[in-house]
Amino acid sequence: MNTITLQLLTVLSITSLLSQRVYCLENGLARTPPMGWLSWGTFRCKIDCVNDPKNCLREELFKEMADILISDGYHDVGYEYVNIDDCWMSRKRDQHQRLFPDPERFPNGIQGIANYVHDHGLKLGIYNTFGKTTCMGYPGSQDFLEIDAKTFAEWEVDMLKMDGCFTPVELIPDGYMDMHRYLNATGRHILYSCSWPFYEKLTQKMPDYNNIAKYCNMWRNSMDIEDSWNSILWIVDDFANNQDAHAEAAGPGHFNDPDMLVIGGSGLNVEQSEAQFGLWAILAAPLLMGNDLRKVKPEFRDVLLNVEVIAVDQDPLGKMGKRIFKDSWHGVDGWLRELSNQEFAILYFNRNPRGKKLFKTSLKMMSLPSNHTYDLRDLFLKKHFGHFKVEEEFKVTLPANGVKMFKASSCSLPNNYKHDGL
Ligand code: GLA
Repeated sequence: MNTITLQLLTVLSITSLLSQRVYCLENGLARTPPMGWLSWGTFRCKIDCVNDPKNCLREELFKEMADILISDGYHDVGYEYVNIDDCWMSRKRDQHQRLFPDPERFPNGIQGIANYVHDHGLKLGIYNTFGKTTCMGYPGSQDFLEIDAKTFAEWEVDMLKMDGCFTPVELIPDGYMDMHRYLNATGRHILYSCSWPFYEKLTQKMPDYNNIAKYCNMWRNSMDIEDSWNSILWIVDDFANNQDAHAEAAGPGHFNDPDMLVIGGSGLNVEQSEAQFGLWAILAAPLLMGNDLRKVKPEFRDVLLNVEVIAVDQDPLGKMGKRIFKDSWHGVDGWLRELSNQEFAILYFNRNPRGKKLFKTSLKMMSLPSNHTYDLRDLFLKKHFGHFKVEEEFKVTLPANGVKMFKASSCSLPNNYKHDGL
C-alpha cells in the first residue's frame, strides 16, 4: 500500500467514524424503569431544621431513607435510587458559578450523601431546573448547564431530574438536548429525567416524544401527582388519552413518567394503592416512592413489595401498555401490556367508588391473540385464577376503586381437560 492510499484510507476511516458519531441517548441506563424514593412527595420544600429537625431536607433525612430502603426490604426487590428533589441548594452560586448545597443542612456536601448511599449499594439522584430558577426559587441551570453537569458528576450523582419551571418554551428542546450532551461528556453515567414534554404541553405545544426519547431516560408527561385518588384518575386518563404517542416512544432506556407513587401516604386505601401500583406497572412507569418510608404501614408496604407486579413493570421488553376498552356503562376499563416470552399483563380497573363489582368479560375483550388458551395468574392474590380460551367468558370480582391484575401465559391443555367452571 503506497502512502497516498494509506492517507486516503485514514481520512476515509476518520470521516466514517465522525459520520457515525451519534448524539442520541447512549448512557446505557434505565434498561427497565428506574425504581427508588424521592423527597418531594412528603418533604416538599421543608427546610426549617430548627423547628422540625426530623422532617426537614437535610443529610440525616436522606441517610435515614437509604437505611430504610435496605432494612425494610425495598432494595431487595429493586428500589435503588435515593433522590433529592428541590430546595437542597444555597440561594446563590459560589464565586466559580458552581451550585452548592445549604451548608447547615448538608455539612458534608452532596458528595457526603453520595458516599453514604454508594457504600450501601444504592444510587443518588439530584434535582435542578432548566430555567432561571427552580420551581421553588433556587438557582436554575439556564446559562450554567455545562458547569452543573460537571459539578453533579464530580459529586458522583447517578440521576438528574431536570425540571422546567420558568423556562421560555422556545428554549426547552435545545436546553434539554444540550444538558444531555453535557452529562454524556462528563463520562459519568447519569440517568436523565426530563420534564420537557410537560412544560411544552402547558403551552399547548404537542411534544415530539420520539425526539425526547433520544435524549432522556424518562420524562414527565403530566401534572404533579397529589396524594389523592382524583389525582391518580386524572393522570391515568391523561395517559390513556395520549397513549399512542406515549407508547411509541417508550422502550428500554427511555420511559414515560406519570410521576411518583403515592402509596403509603394518607390519600389512598389499600385497594386504591393496588390500582396505582398495577397501573404504573402496565404503563412501564418509573417506580419512585414519594412517601415517608418511616411511616408506611405493613399493608401498604406489601403492595410496594409485590414482586409479581414489579416483574411486570420491569419486564425487559419495555413496552408500555394501553387501555384496550372503556366500559362507561359498568365503569370498568381494561388495560393490556405485552410482556416478553409472549406473555401479557392484563388489568381490570374499577372506577366505581362503592361496593364490589362482578364483571363479566373474556380475553377477547382484551384483544389477546385468538386460537390460544391462557393461564391467568392473579398478581395481587398471588395465585392461579384459571385457564381460558380467548372467546370464553369468565367473571372477575373487582374492589371499589380497585383493580384485578393478571399475568396471562399461553398454555396448551390436554384433550380431555375439563374446565373448572369459573
Ligand atoms: C415541579 C415538579 C415536581 C417537584 C417540584 C419541586 O412542580 O413537577 O415534581 O420537583 O417542581 O419544586
